[in-house]
Order: sequence, then structure tokens, then C-alpha cells
Amino acid sequence: MTRDQEVRRRNVKNSRIASDIKREKEHKQSKVSLAILLFGISGLITLVCVVRYFQYRSYLREKVAIPVDAPKVLPKEAGTVEADPERFWGSYRPQLYFGLKTRSPASPLFGFMWLNQLTGQMPPPLRHWCDQGDGLLRYGWTKHDGVNFGIQEIEDKQFSLKTVFVKQQGGSHGGDWTARISAAPNDPNHPAVVSFMFYVALDGQGTLEPVLAKNGKYLTSVRGTSQELGSFELFFPKSKTDSSPRHSYLITYAPQIDKLKEVLLSGMKVDAWDKARTKIYFTLGGRLVPRDAPGPNYVVHQVTVQLPFEMEVIFESGSFKNRPDVLAGQVLTDLLSKHESNFDKKFTSVFDLESKGYKTNEIAFAKAALSNMIGGIGYFYGSSMVQSKYNKEPLDYWNASLYTAVPSRSFFPRGFLWDEGFHNLLISQWNVNISKDIISHWLDLMNIEGWIPREQILGAEALAKVPAEFVVQKNENANPPTLYLALLKIIEHYSNSNNEGSQSFLKAVFPRLKVWYDWYNTSQVGERPSTYRWRGRDAQTRRELNPKTLTSGLDDFPRASHPTDDEYHVDLRCWMALASKLMSDIAAIVGEDSGAYLATNKLLTDNSLLDELHWSEKKQQYSDFGLHTDKVRLERPKPPPNLQPGQRPPQTDPEQVRITLSEPEYRFVDSFGYVSLFPFLLKIIDHNSPKLYKILTDLKDPRLLWTDYGLRSLAKTAPLYNRYNTEHDPPYWRGAIWINMNYLALGALHHYSSTQGSYSEMAKSVYDELRINLVTNIFKEYKRTGFIWENYNDKTGEGKGCHPFTGWSALVVLIMAEKY
Ligand SMILES: *[C@@H]1O[C@H](CO)[C@@H](O)[C@H](O)[C@H]1NC(C)=O
Ligand SMILES: *[C@@H]1O[C@H](CO)[C@@H](O)[C@H](O)[C@H]1NC(C)=O
Ligand SMILES: *[C@@H]1O[C@H](CO)[C@@H](O)[C@H](O)[C@H]1NC(C)=O
Repeated sequence: MTRDQEVRRRNVKNSRIASDIKREKEHKQSKVSLAILLFGISGLITLVCVVRYFQYRSYLREKVAIPVDAPKVLPKEAGTVEADPERFWGSYRPQLYFGLKTRSPASPLFGFMWLNQLTGQMPPPLRHWCDQGDGLLRYGWTKHDGVNFGIQEIEDKQFSLKTVFVKQQGGSHGGDWTARISAAPNDPNHPAVVSFMFYVALDGQGTLEPVLAKNGKYLTSVRGTSQELGSFELFFPKSKTDSSPRHSYLITYAPQIDKLKEVLLSGMKVDAWDKARTKIYFTLGGRLVPRDAPGPNYVVHQVTVQLPFEMEVIFESGSFKNRPDVLAGQVLTDLLSKHESNFDKKFTSVFDLESKGYKTNEIAFAKAALSNMIGGIGYFYGSSMVQSKYNKEPLDYWNASLYTAVPSRSFFPRGFLWDEGFHNLLISQWNVNISKDIISHWLDLMNIEGWIPREQILGAEALAKVPAEFVVQKNENANPPTLYLALLKIIEHYSNSNNEGSQSFLKAVFPRLKVWYDWYNTSQVGERPSTYRWRGRDAQTRRELNPKTLTSGLDDFPRASHPTDDEYHVDLRCWMALASKLMSDIAAIVGEDSGAYLATNKLLTDNSLLDELHWSEKKQQYSDFGLHTDKVRLERPKPPPNLQPGQRPPQTDPEQVRITLSEPEYRFVDSFGYVSLFPFLLKIIDHNSPKLYKILTDLKDPRLLWTDYGLRSLAKTAPLYNRYNTEHDPPYWRGAIWINMNYLALGALHHYSSTQGSYSEMAKSVYDELRINLVTNIFKEYKRTGFIWENYNDKTGEGKGCHPFTGWSALVVLIMAEKY
């Protein structure tokens, strides 16, 4: 029974009771009946209250997973080809070295794996998902426009690959595409034998019908159907460069799409390359559909060959009738060079790095950084696990799709709310339509409270990459509302070109932004008026040296040592000032009342109030306020001194716990670092304020944040500089150089240097130096290691953390172009 039916049934029952009472009253008009009447009414009221109470309890439990009551930003046709035929197909499986799918919930999946034969390793080194453990020397898109094509270079240990895809519009299902994959040995004296494997797999719907060559030895194509693609055919034409290739195939059933590699490995057999059987290699086992499976849903074509080699895989849509040419060979080469040259022209017109004096190899690096951000855009579908204080167990959020860039294809191949704001600073410069689409997807994930889960783990492939402890999202937890940074770019786009599309976009997002803003402005407030506090800190933990603030995005950056409700955070205050400004600007553009937002912005940017709340006179810096002591350290608890007879000594050392050496007190948290810079980073400080002078001076101080490679996150003088947070948690935002914050710093310096003020020249000189340091080091590390990194070591400049990290670290392109 649904809730509605239940309520209706109760209503019917209640009205029956009421009419019974009425009849009784007519029959016996005595005091007794009056008493009964009163009794009945009070019973009725109690009943209604009890019902209401339980309904309310159940509503509270479900509330966290109820969508906001506002029109969706995405059009009805989202998730189908009609939403945007040109972007229907794409490399939307960024967690793979090379994979394609459509922007629809249960798209068939296309992907590539490769395998270096004759290595003697067991199991053989099969490459599929981007994995740092594979130890590839380099990989990433060198050109990718997000719409028509992409070119990727991959350097494995003994050979290099190139994976290309090009699309051709036509028909009514997003058209055709061709993948061209080539490989050559790094050292011609050490030729490698490599297997190329290209597959198609179904995600729950559709059909696949493999077509074998006459001799039955290899696949020539796979015919298929699916809801969103109609009929299609995937061709495996014989390659001209086949020297002595061996073909094999696998036709099977994969019960889970996140286990394609495992299913493939279990469908492998061993074969011999030569008659003497000295060289064995791995081939695919042919048709292996389990008897109880509904039919094949996973078909793999394998070619094993001595390099060099090149192959093409051609996807043709059944609805594409008047195809000019098969998209292969020279036709493909010509179309690809046309797209490449358009890409180059557009890159120059948008970023114009030539005019900044950059050399060809530096520009190629910037193109790769942009392309990897664009090529890191994925399309995910599924539901998050969410929890509020009313739920003992997490609930499923509703099933939804998310079109989003990812921070790292290998390590973080999923959506992160605050990363996405930074991503779209760059994406919006390249293609504002993609940014609008991404922002729309994110805003449509808002629940009725105005909350958007911070980390989006949608679908089996995304889930497979996440440690269990990070899966459940809690509805009191925020994350910096950086989507406003991206919205600022869209406002600029609107103002510069008076673009109607951008105005109607802002109109469409406004109702949701309002709810989102209100959620922050109520759920994240501090106890003291006009202050704000990040939620989600663990006040009970004894393990952490300083309880983390994951919600702030700056995970282990030191905050008050003893979390309480009375603390308040300067970075969140500044984010709220920014949000209020943007809300007021957008309200003005879409003709809504901007007064309240403007008033809140005025309040939050009032420098004397800011100073009163957050300026530490003692340390002459902006700080958080809270219950704090610097005197903490991790220690291993001593085992009990005297073991009792029969008591066994502990098997392993107990984990270190935090010891507090002096009582915490309410005070400023004086660790100088990124958090202290926020009033400057978000341009809140008056440009003639002496505090600006102090900050500019501090920025250049090498004992604090200044390095030859960018600004470090935490001053060398801070008590927790480079300290582990537990014995297992290495420092993260406690010294390393992060590119998103450095980008904001450059933006602020650029702002203060171009605003007439006492310190504009000083800002300009810090700006010039910081910009050169950052670009030089990121580029140097890219040449040295082949990658752009999550963060950079503040002592050596070396790339650290995960790689490739072409989320916000790719903002280096905007730094080179001086676009803030
Ligand atoms: C989401 O979709 C999946 C598969 O289509 C289904 O099993 C699941 O129950 C759905 N979840 C919700 C919350 O509707
Ligand atoms: C964005 O979409 C509009 C139509 O909605 C189109 O006119 C414009 O060319 C598109 N811009 C880009 C960069 O694709
Ligand atoms: C934000 O919250 C404060 C109260 O904490 C309120 O005074 C202010 O009006 C709110 N701002 C907006 C724009 O709603």
C-alpha cells in the first residue's frame, strides 16, 4: 500500500467513526452520551495525532532522498540523443584508458584493453582501467574537443600506443564513430608482441549478435540493438599492417559491468606462437556463454601481433542512411586532421599563448592539460547512498545521471562537488555549453533541503573505485560552493556577448540556486551571529592529531583542535560572501529581487566585522576561531604494566592516540596557511587595507608559504606543518602546493594589481613571480614524469599524490593565459 492509499483508507475510517458518533448523539441525548462523545472525540484526536506523528517520522527519514520541489534544469529529453546529438557519444568512461559510451543511463559500453604477451607474468598484465599500479610512463589526451574527436598517447614500458576516436553525425542516434589504435615499440631492437582487445558490453538492455568470418576463426563484426541506439554494427576490418596477426575472440556473458576484466581473464586460454611451443601466449576462448545466461552481452575481438601495428574499429548507426563514406582509412585521416586544425585554431583564439611568449612544446603541454580535463568528462548513472540523523541505515538517493569532469582518471574517477567548480573555470572558456550542461546535472541532484551530496559515486564502475568508508554521504555536510566560481564565468559570457542562451540558463538555474544558497545560509551557520561553521568534524575521535574537516575540501588543514559548535571558520565565511554576491548578480540578471543577497554580501564583506571575528591581533593574520591548543601529539598507549596471570599480552601494538598536553581554550587557531588567505583569495579585503600589505608581505616570506614552485598550503612555522594526522595518514594539506588555491591567489593578485590602490604595484610583482614559478614547475614536472599531479612537493617541486590529476591542476592553462 502506498502512503497515499494508506492516508485515504484512514480518512474513510475516520469519517465512519464520526458519523457513528453523530447517529448515537441523535438517539440518546443524555449526559452519558455526551461523555462518550467527548471520549470519542479525544480518542479521534489522539488517533489523528499518532498517525500524523508516524507519518512525520517517516517523512523525516525519507526527506534526505526526496528531490527539491523546483523545476529541473535539464530538459525532459536529458539522457537521450535528443538532448544533444553531437555530444551523445563520447569518451565518457574516463576511468578507462580508452572507452566510449553514450550519454544515456544504460548505454552499451565500448572499450579497449591491451596485453603485453611473452612477459612470463601470471596473470598476464592486462590494461583496462587507468591504474597507477600499471606503472605506465605517460598517458593522456593530447587533443580532445569534447564533441568531435580525441587523440591520446600512451607510453607503456616497452611500446607506445595511440588511441584516437572521431565521430561523424548522421541518422537519429548520434551517428557513427571510428576508433583507431596504433602501437610501436619504444626500442626497435626489442619488438614486443601485443594483444589488442576491443569489446562491446551491454549494461542491462539490448542485444548483441557476433558475426564470425567464414572459417569461424575470428570476428568480423558485432550487430547490436539497444533502446537508445536502435540498431548498430561494430566492424573489425582486417588491418593493412597485419604482418602475422593472430585473431581470437570471446563471446560471453558478464553478470556485472564492473567485472569485465575478470570475465575476460577467466575466458583466456594459453596458445603457442611457434611449433616448438617455446613461446606461449594468451588468446581468448571463443564462445563461452554460460548455459543459464539470457544470451551474450559481452563480445571481445582480439588481435595479437608483433609491433608496430594499427587497427580500426568502426561503429555504424543503423539509422544513418546516406553515409558519404565509411569512416576509415584516408577518410578518417582527413577528417581527423580537419578537427585537429580546428582545435588548434580555437585553442589559439581562446588562450592565445603565442602572444604570451610560450614556445611550441609549452603550448602542446597546455593543449594536453586542457584535453585531459575535457577527456576526463564522464557520464555516470546510479544513486548515491545518503544518510541523515533520522536514519539508522543509509538510504538510496534517487537514480540520476551525472555529466561531470573528474579530478583524476586513475584515482578519483567520479564527481566531486567542489572540484567541479574549479573544473568549469577552464571548461567554460573552451565550451560554455558543456559547462552549462555539467552545472545543470549537478543542480538537479539537489534534495528537498537544498543539499547536494558532495561526492557522487554513481553506478557499479564508479563504486568499484571507492573505499567503503567514503561511500555514504551525510546531509549536514557541505563543500565549498565553487559552482558559483563557474557561474561567474557564465555571467561574464552573458555580459560580453549578451548571449540569450546564457540568460535563459541563469533563469533556469535560479530557483535551485536559491534553495541551495538557503541551505548553506541556514545549515552551516555558527552559533555567533553572522559566522559560519563547517559540519562533519569528529569531536569524539582520539586517533586524529587534529580532527579532519573533509567538508571544507582542505581535509587535514589544521582547525580548532577540539571541535565544538562554537567554532567558526573564516574560509566558509568568505565562500558565503562570494555566494551572496553571485546570487545578487544572477537575481539582477533574471529580474528577481537581489536585495537580501546584496545585504548579506555587504555584511560578510564588511572589513571591520571580518576583522572583529577573524583577525588575530597576536599573530597578525586571519584565522578560524575555536576551542584549541597547539600542544597535542600522537603517542602509542603503553601496555598495562602488570599482566595478570592468564592474561595474554596484546598481539599487535595498539594504535597511537592523541595526547593533549595543555587544556584547549577558546582562541584563534593561528596556523598560517591557505585558510588564513581566504579574505584575500576571494578579494574581500579592501584594496587600501594595511592588512592587504601584511598579506602580500607574508606571501613572499619563504619561512611561511613562499616556495620556488608556488605557495605551500601550510606555513613551515605552523605546529602541524608536514605532520601525520594519524600514524597512517600522511600530511595532505599541510605543506604541499595545490594548484586550485594558487590559481585563486593569482586571481586575487591580478585583481589587486589592476585596482588602483596603495599596494597595486606590490601585488603585481608578487603576481609575476608566483605565476612564473608555478608554470615553470608544473611544466618541468610534466616533462620529467609525463604527468600533471595532484599537488607538488614544497621543498623539491616534485609532483606528488595521484596522477594524472588533470582536474584543477589543469588550471595551469588559465594561469598561462592569464584568465582569472
Ligand atoms: C535504480 O536503478 C536500478 C537499476 O536500474 C534499480 O535496481 C534500483 O532499484 C534503482 N534505485 C532506485 C533508488 O530507484
Ligand atoms: C552552444 O549552443 C548553442 C545553441 O544552444 C549554439 O548556437 C552554439 O554554437 C553552441 N556553442 C558551442 C561552443 O558549441
Ligand atoms: C542569511 O542568513 C542570515 C541569518 O543568519 C540572514 O540574516 C540573511 O538575511 C540571510 N541571507 C539571505 C540572502 O537569505
